[in-house]
Amino acid sequence: MNLADRLKNDPFLKRLSDLLGEREAYVVGGYPRDLFLGKRSPDIDIVVLEDVRKFVEPIRELGPVDFRFSEFMTAKFLFPDGRVLDLARARRERYPRPAVLPEVEPAESIEEDLWRRDFSINAMAISLKRTNFGELIDPTGGLEDLQRGRIRVLKEGSFRDDPTRAYRAIRYSLRFNFSYDSLTECEFDLARKYVRLLSFPRIENELRRGSAEERRAEFFHEAEARGLFPWEHRKPALKELKDLDGLLAERKEEDWILFFALFLPEGPGVLEFVHSLPLEKPEKKALLDFLGLRDEEIEMDPGEFHLKHGKSAEEALLVLAAFRPALRDFILDYLERKKKATPQISARELIEMGFTGRKIGEILKKIKILRLQGKIRTKEEERSFVQSQLDERSGR
Ligand code: CTP
Repeated sequence: MNLADRLKNDPFLKRLSDLLGEREAYVVGGYPRDLFLGKRSPDIDIVVLEDVRKFVEPIRELGPVDFRFSEFMTAKFLFPDGRVLDLARARRERYPRPAVLPEVEPAESIEEDLWRRDFSINAMAISLKRTNFGELIDPTGGLEDLQRGRIRVLKEGSFRDDPTRAYRAIRYSLRFNFSYDSLTECEFDLARKYVRLLSFPRIENELRRGSAEERRAEFFHEAEARGLFPWEHRKPALKELKDLDGLLAERKEEDWILFFALFLPEGPGVLEFVHSLPLEKPEKKALLDFLGLRDEEIEMDPGEFHLKHGKSAEEALLVLAAFRPALRDFILDYLERKKKATPQISARELIEMGFTGRKIGEILKKIKILRLQGKIRTKEEERSFVQSQLDERSGR
């Protein structure tokens, strides 16, 4: 099947092309790449050669859509079926210094826009213009690289300009099982040198994206091995990262922080380091909870453990299970027990039995600990325990 046919198979794009008529517009980046790989990506990047505002009306004819102009020369459309369409004007970029965002200005041709990109496999465009719908524009040899399984930068110094591309290269190489060409391999040395100039949120963004990949344990491992963790850190073994991956039920971008926890440096200064990071509250809590457990002597009694660490985030415990495999079974068992440890007896019943004030909370806590230890399993057993406490108090 030729490209135009493959594109036509996507009714959304076919309609878009019809609506755009003779205007020059191209689908670029991930969409053409994935189309050749036989996948359909939900995100569509479109590049045009005029002011993007001229394209808003025809795109809105596609159906109900939420849209906003974002950065310079771009607009984003969110369709109800989850499709995201990014519209951008073709541009050229100039990096005034390594690792800073580029200065951009409109480009004269689609080719120029393609040459500024990260890798050849991401630098292909497919025309949407009605009269040459489906024509491939591939000035950098992206299709050949796609066929040969190769990640290739488009110019020397690509990773100096933008070291985030190094994380991207790793993501693509693992996702598609591709290798790097020799220039790209050399570029990693530049990335290692300049990555420390990136702001933390930019690195976080790359780690998040890595964390959404199927081979995310390998992603983190390779990123570290290639010097893309520009802070003092420990080097977790691949097995540890894979264990963590296995312990987390789903694959989510938010999990990046849990992988990151395994890289936290050992020794003094780690708390200061964590506090210095620009993180959201729950992320910081996950790291601090993990640190609170990491070097602790852990008593393998679910009740005792709960008394000491019951308030730790569940995710922090999973990181601990990966970090200290000897604790793995105990932690998983504790988490299972915790789910079933909520006392069945109600506060009202306790009041009726004669408990008041703080005592109610205390007895419920005791019941929870005994449930965790497996010493109480039913509501009946809870009642007899409460009765025994009453008897003790009244000296019976
Ligand atoms: N791009 C680039 N350099 C970057 C980031 C992006 O050249 N540092 C270009 C690439 O051409 C890329 C496109 O912008 O294809 C869109 O970027 P993005 O949405 O991040 O990537 P996708 O190609 O959509 O890949 P993914 O499947 O990972 O989402």
